[in-house]
Amino acid sequence: MTHSRRDFLKRSSVSAVGFGLLRPDFSYHREISPNEKVNVGLIGARNKGFNILSHMLKTGQVNCLGICDVDKNIMEQRVEEVEKTHGQMVRSYNDFRKMLDNKEIDAVVIGTPDHWHCLIMVLACQAGKDVYVEKPLANSIEECNLMLAAARKYNRVVQVGQQQRSGEVWNSAMTHIHTGGIGEIKRINVWANFPYGMGAPKVPDKAIPNGLDYDFWQGPAAKRAYNPNRVHGNWRHFWDYGGGLMTDWGVHLLDMALWAKNIHHEPKSVIASGANFNLSAYSRETFELMDVSYPLENYFIHWTHTAGIAVGPYEKPYGVEFIGDKGVIIADRGDWKILQGNKEESEEASKLAKANFNFTGKSAMEIHVLDFLKSVKERTVTNCPVEIGRNVALYAHMGNIAVRSGENVLEWNAESGNFKGNSKGNALIRPEYKGGWKLPTV
Ligand SMILES: NC(=O)c1ccc[n+]([C@@H]2O[C@H](COP(=O)([O-])OP(=O)(O)OC[C@H]3O[C@@H](n4cnc5c(N)ncnc54)[C@H](O)[C@@H]3O)[C@@H](O)[C@H]2O)c1
Repeated sequence: MTHSRRDFLKRSSVSAVGFGLLRPDFSYHREISPNEKVNVGLIGARNKGFNILSHMLKTGQVNCLGICDVDKNIMEQRVEEVEKTHGQMVRSYNDFRKMLDNKEIDAVVIGTPDHWHCLIMVLACQAGKDVYVEKPLANSIEECNLMLAAARKYNRVVQVGQQQRSGEVWNSAMTHIHTGGIGEIKRINVWANFPYGMGAPKVPDKAIPNGLDYDFWQGPAAKRAYNPNRVHGNWRHFWDYGGGLMTDWGVHLLDMALWAKNIHHEPKSVIASGANFNLSAYSRETFELMDVSYPLENYFIHWTHTAGIAVGPYEKPYGVEFIGDKGVIIADRGDWKILQGNKEESEEASKLAKANFNFTGKSAMEIHVLDFLKSVKERTVTNCPVEIGRNVALYAHMGNIAVRSGENVLEWNAESGNFKGNSKGNALIRPEYKGGWKLPTV
């Protein structure tokens, strides 16, 4: 970064101003009337990126002007699908920078692995595009900082792919929590147990498949021999590209724990432990098991994950338990319920608590995408702006850093943007870009 941390905080601090109070200035943009379509381009099309684009196309409010992927097979397949299903002629790109040169594109969707989010988003902001970027915001704390700075400097509308922020299940639970329904919250327990967290069973390195530009796929990450377990879908278990279950699910679920208390400040400290067994059978660097505690002023967030299983508390593989002094809420993406007194009392309280909420039955993704398009047209703040994406990404990354550094307990200095007196933790804040790519400056 070219500016000092203090300047950065002045321009971007959510804790000092409260991002809800900041007046956004999304000034530079093409005027798009309510009935006009938003021109979008998709970067990273295999899985989630294409899911977002499909939701956007279903709204009827979007022209897809381009699809970019470094795997030619995926790019061609996705271009054909959009042309067939939606009758739109789509230009294909193998280099996102060429797509960003297309002045007709208003907004881009970033659906690449995490190690690419920062560079693509900063360049997209500089090119005057609005951005829907997948979560976690980035693969490191410093990249998250740069993305926040870029969104603010270039006045871009940003939606981070934490669609739970738009979901009716979570919004109705938050309404109940914020109106004191379960009293003062003392503790929030969060868990995520998924078989896929083990990584894929080991296979030998292979020749790079035809069509995949593996060099471009690796981009700013260290150059490694090609192994199918490092790419498409499996990358999330390697530090070069992702953070395992801690960041993959952590940002979705820890975000609910922060939202419950409207926490917008950075973590104060983190206490974490983690372990890795079965490393000879599975391709993985990220932790199979983790326990992370975040002590905050007058409450406590606890995260736990176990890869390789699909069970957890309350018979849920993942979920959030909000513990208040008047009751408890158990929630997942499908529903939430109150535990208060006996079974009948709990059921009655849950029914009553939801009675006044206007459920439309729309999926979280549908609402999240509609919210982004509306914000692009009306130049308003999205349901999950970059500030929210950055803050929860910091919480999740700090869990991983505490274990990776071997320190287990770390204290964070929000003013200087690093760990207090801890060089091992601080060494993991900022990535070293390789392969000729440079960490962007904002
Ligand atoms: N919000 C959610 O619920 C949710 C769900 C799944 C994934 N995600 C997020 O979406 C992102 C993508 O995950 P995925 O599961 O779709 O991964 P994936 O591996 O299935 O797809 C990524 C695609 O990006 C392409 N790609 C890689 N580098 C590129 C580059 N520089 N330019 C263009 N294309 C590039 C790959 O070739 C691949 O087609 C991740 O950040 C992930 O965390 C979010």
